[in-house]
Amino acid sequence: MPQPTRKLLFTPGPLNTSETVRKAMLTDIGSREIEFIQIVRNIRNKLLKLADLKTCGPYVAVPMQGSGTFAIEAVIGTLIQNDGKLLVLINGAYGHRMVDIATRLKVPVDYLVFADTEPICLNILEDYLCKNQEITQVAVVHCETTTGIVNPIAEIGSIVANAGKQFIVDAMSSFGGIAIDFEACQIDCLISSANKCLEGVPGLSFVIVKNYWLKSASGQARSLSLDLHAQWQALEKNGQFRFTPPTHVVLALDAALDALEREGGVIARNYRYKENQQTLLSGMHRMGFESVITPSLQSPIITAFYCLKNSKFKFAQFCELLANRSMYIYPGKISSVNSFRIGTIGDLRKQDVEDLLMAIESCLNIMEI
Ligand SMILES: Cc1ncc(COP(=O)(O)O)c(C=O)c1O
Repeated sequence: MPQPTRKLLFTPGPLNTSETVRKAMLTDIGSREIEFIQIVRNIRNKLLKLADLKTCGPYVAVPMQGSGTFAIEAVIGTLIQNDGKLLVLINGAYGHRMVDIATRLKVPVDYLVFADTEPICLNILEDYLCKNQEITQVAVVHCETTTGIVNPIAEIGSIVANAGKQFIVDAMSSFGGIAIDFEACQIDCLISSANKCLEGVPGLSFVIVKNYWLKSASGQARSLSLDLHAQWQALEKNGQFRFTPPTHVVLALDAALDALEREGGVIARNYRYKENQQTLLSGMHRMGFESVITPSLQSPIITAFYCLKNSKFKFAQFCELLANRSMYIYPGKISSVNSFRIGTIGDLRKQDVEDLLMAIESCLNIMEI
């Protein structure tokens, strides 16, 4: 069994990055240098360019120090008014996390919980908004990384807009990897991070939000450091972050965004991820693994598989055998079923997935399955 020359992270993130992206971090740079300020400005513009905004703007892109959860917390803590009420649509762990954040921040919140393996039910949402006029914003996760299911954000966005509410999308694991049409989806605010489909490194998240909404949120934040409005104002004023930025991470994101453009943009990246995922799916099915999510709802980002019913299949052992071959997968995140997850994003190609499939076959042999 040939050993790969690098670790292969078949996970939801952090992910494999390219040498170009890693090399970009080999420079020390001051956060107040003109060069750094220009790079931050470029990144903000590149993020807006990447978002398919059409004519539905104006929007602003606001980077935030920290992992994706920090940006979600900044959005919920800054943009929901004290007399507003957020409705969170849940079909996985990250929907639950948004409710946890709102509850902790004492932001009024309601939620609708659906099965982890089913998309958000549009009729229930429509009915709920009709009967609960006090809702001011609706939030949903685009690709629920819990299972890899993709929620119908265009249909949800249309119901939310027709009801006169604002629409927040957690596109943490999809932005840059799945095309998102802001206009068609009627998105008012989108949250994502540097280290998933953009293939940067962890440590920076960002928000793309309608200018007028952010403008109206002055003084509303429940946190000092996660004040999205103040962060935006500082960046607009002198191009600087309010508090120490992760300079090396910013350099890496700049290189990663250029690499995405060179690859052919979101369409080309989506094609590569789909090829990875299709290769994975057919190989896993051949070995008897069944996927948890119906193919029509499945993203190319991450795939959940049921553990084999064979008593000799022990996930911890399976995982360890793969790790011995420098390949990493994740346990399942759905409590009701025995499953595990394999990611197909990051700097991975079809050949890497084929290597994983060969390694899985060899692990099953060792486990006498
Ligand atoms: C959909 C989604 N939302 C939120 C998060 C949280 O992001 P982070 O772990 O970077 O804080 C993740 C992480 O995987 C995610 O996939």
